[in-house]
Amino acid sequence: MSTRVGIIGCGHRGRAHGEAWNALPGCKVVAVADLDPERRSAVSKALSASDTFGHYRDLLEHARPDIVSIALQPNLRLEVIRKACEAGVRGILVEKPAALGLPEHTLMEEAVRQNGVLCIVNYQTRYLPAWRKLRERVRSGALGRIERILVTSRLVALDQGTHLCDQLYAFAGQELPQAAVGQAWGWREGMHPGPTEMFGSFHFDGGLEAFIRLGPDSPTARFNPAAGALAYQLDVWGEGGHGHVDILEGGRTWIRGLSEWEITNESWTTPGVVPQAQKELSQSLLDALEKPGFEPPCSLRHARASFEMCEALCASALERRKIEWPLPAWEHSPMQALRTLSEQPLRKPW
Ligand SMILES: NC(=O)c1ccc[n+]([C@@H]2O[C@H](COP(=O)([O-])OP(=O)(O)OC[C@H]3O[C@@H](n4cnc5c(N)ncnc54)[C@H](O)[C@@H]3O)[C@@H](O)[C@H]2O)c1
Repeated sequence: MSTRVGIIGCGHRGRAHGEAWNALPGCKVVAVADLDPERRSAVSKALSASDTFGHYRDLLEHARPDIVSIALQPNLRLEVIRKACEAGVRGILVEKPAALGLPEHTLMEEAVRQNGVLCIVNYQTRYLPAWRKLRERVRSGALGRIERILVTSRLVALDQGTHLCDQLYAFAGQELPQAAVGQAWGWREGMHPGPTEMFGSFHFDGGLEAFIRLGPDSPTARFNPAAGALAYQLDVWGEGGHGHVDILEGGRTWIRGLSEWEITNESWTTPGVVPQAQKELSQSLLDALEKPGFEPPCSLRHARASFEMCEALCASALERRKIEWPLPAWEHSPMQALRTLSEQPLRKPW
């Protein structure tokens, strides 16, 4: 019997999720939901779904899917995750960032744990070939001991910022840092409300230092304005080499002793690459459902770790001190607290 999938939210992302699920053997999108009739009818047709609903609650009640993909606005996701757990789904793929703050993330984790549901977060850029190949080079030790990582993006903390923290966490071997120091300024409202500009560093066990720079003033954006929203890069330096990945250009790795860079031309714009990444991410949830004990790289727990990194930078900006792990159980999101500060700047006594 095939795995029945429901798509909640029929925007650009919901459609991409649905196409990936339908392309996986043994999976079928059986139902879609969107409050917008034109959107749900177009996506239902494109995905050959047998049932179409307006509100997501009707999809959960009547279609009884095994898996749901949640691709609606971030402020609604906690409620949908809770309802999906109550409806008896086995797996959830939720768009990133799963939550707008750590307290909300904790509530999501509790909901899935209490109901025995597996949940992964849509960090599909992990599966892009250039990033993956460089990570494999790092993991195999080809670059020697890793000393420094730098990630930059044009978009703000909760947009590509969470993709980048997630990549940074992956390149650091899925280990949390020991400490973070950050600064943040400006504020951008919208779907992902957060600081416009962010800068910070993370200190890891073993001496690895990682640096992050996000926002329209970041060098990635200023030196490559043509890249638009997709200006997003990572560099990693080890004792034995250097790797660079650019989401639009692919990757290159130099290893001590080699006379040439190893080049990966496949990038975000190469036909088929993005759908394949989405498929592999979705497959990781199916694998986890079949193989007890297997934790997908983009599990809710791992997604929390990279979200903690974002929040720690914001807490450091607010408190003007180094933030160390384990983080305190903040009642409110430090990132969202920065909104108030951006509206009422501190009176300068100097
Ligand atoms: N992983 C990535 O690279 C990536 C890229 C872009 C966006 N995103 C995330 O994906 C999310 C979705 O992106 P999008 O561009 O498809 O968004 P979108 O706003 O175009 O689509 C969301 C849809 O959800 C529907 N919706 C809202 N409430 C609903 C309800 N109660 N029941 C049923 N449907 C409901 C809306 O009508 C809308 O059509 C964004 O919020 C963003 O956080 C992720």
